Amino acid sequence: MTRILVLNGPNLNLLGTREPGTYGSQTLKDILGRLESIAAARGGFVSGFQSNAEHELIEQIQGAKTHGFDAIIINAGAYTHTSIAIRDAFAAVSIPFYEVHISNVYARESFRHHSHLSALASGVIVGLGPLGYELALEAALRAHP
Ligand code: DQA
Repeated sequence: MTRILVLNGPNLNLLGTREPGTYGSQTLKDILGRLESIAAARGGFVSGFQSNAEHELIEQIQGAKTHGFDAIIINAGAYTHTSIAIRDAFAAVSIPFYEVHISNVYARESFRHHSHLSALASGVIVGLGPLGYELALEAALRAHP
């Protein structure tokens, strides 16, 4: 069974009410519920974790292999653009991961144009809204059957 950990970083707990013109109206619970049912229908398993704290995301990345996950889907929020520590965690444990951004970060402020994570990611999906998580899940399920 393919096991995928879905990590969401700061402020993504507010999806649904946070800047709906940019991030849409679906809540994180809506998104995770959909991912869980897609994975279940394919004989896989999805576990979601959200934190506003950088160290909690790092601890999840460090423990992912030990906890039996095959891959990670991550929307690190603003930590994408700032966190060398999250990048180092991925480099340290070398678990495959897929980077997702709901909005098209390249059409926004220049400080959102750089990601510390992308160079290590198996794939990056930006600007497709919550569908991006589903496409990342599809990629992860195909890569880790
Ligand atoms: C985001 C884009 C980031 O720049 C921003 O800080 C977020 C959300 C996105 O999903 O589009 O929190 O990762």
